[in-house]
Amino acid sequence: MKLSITSTEKLEKFYLKDLNNKVFNIELDREQNIPENWYELIVPYTGKKIEISDIQINDDSMKEVMYTGFYTDGLGVKHQPATAVWDDGGFFSIWIHTQSGRMWQRFKDQIRNKDWGTFLFDKYVFTVDRPIKVADYWNNNLKHYFGFGDGPNWWLKNNRFTPYIEIDSIDTKKIDLDKLISELDLCFPPECRSCYDGHTRRGMKLGPAELPFTEIKDLTSKMVQDFVTALGYKRIIDIQLQTLDPETAIPIHKDHHFDRECYPWTSGAVKFYWNLTDSKDVYFKLGNAGLLPLEKPLFINATEHVHAVLNERKDHRTVLTMYGEL
Ligand SMILES: [Fe+2]
Repeated sequence: MKLSITSTEKLEKFYLKDLNNKVFNIELDREQNIPENWYELIVPYTGKKIEISDIQINDDSMKEVMYTGFYTDGLGVKHQPATAVWDDGGFFSIWIHTQSGRMWQRFKDQIRNKDWGTFLFDKYVFTVDRPIKVADYWNNNLKHYFGFGDGPNWWLKNNRFTPYIEIDSIDTKKIDLDKLISELDLCFPPECRSCYDGHTRRGMKLGPAELPFTEIKDLTSKMVQDFVTALGYKRIIDIQLQTLDPETAIPIHKDHHFDRECYPWTSGAVKFYWNLTDSKDVYFKLGNAGLLPLEKPLFINATEHVHAVLNERKDHRTVLTMYGEL
């Protein structure tokens, strides 16, 4: 690949990072012998304000695709459109592909025409799917599934294929988890419990999520009523606590809701998903969106994206999940 950058000042520092975060120091305007793939081009601020007016891959201008890049300032705030560097600790970054047509195909497919040159993070979820090396004891399907990375993707929010949304509306530190779990148990009929392959579930219903709705006022616990209301649910389809044994996986699958009555309420980033135990060494890969940020409660889309979970911990992993009308 040959990379060229047109800027107001000569760039003193810039580099590429591949999906494994391996750094490639390259020269501009000359063919570079690097593997075909996605790379993050990073231009750090080095004391001079510099504006970048064009980036060329193999002599072809990126044109408006350059607006997928953004500037992260010294305080960590993202700016976009921003093809410049201007403060200490700040850096410009953009994902490029050595075969530029693949980058055009992907980003033109994902970003609507009128959104070029706007702050894309308002309307899109940005993910980078990276390869990760998992423990040796998993089968080859899981090793390969987690072992490849699809790279960067911009996902339209409020769309059938939005992979996940981070939830900021609840302060998880203020929630008494032990109490919440015991109050949830008040809402779960004792017979609604299943266990298979190291995966234990208890919930409001037996089997997969399905209608009818339960009105929030009919949930047995006031604490649970307040909790689901704070999340934005108007009615509930199901709530579940799911526990995964140590060193156990949930294999690669998609939740099959397509032919169920509940489908309109399960498609999209609408499944509440909160990892209640330590998320270190727990990996939830959601298709081409990559690993979920499990430190936060999320709304995830388990109906439209393939996924798998690995618990590489020596203890159990517990998650709270929910479907309902948002
Ligand atoms: Fe699933």
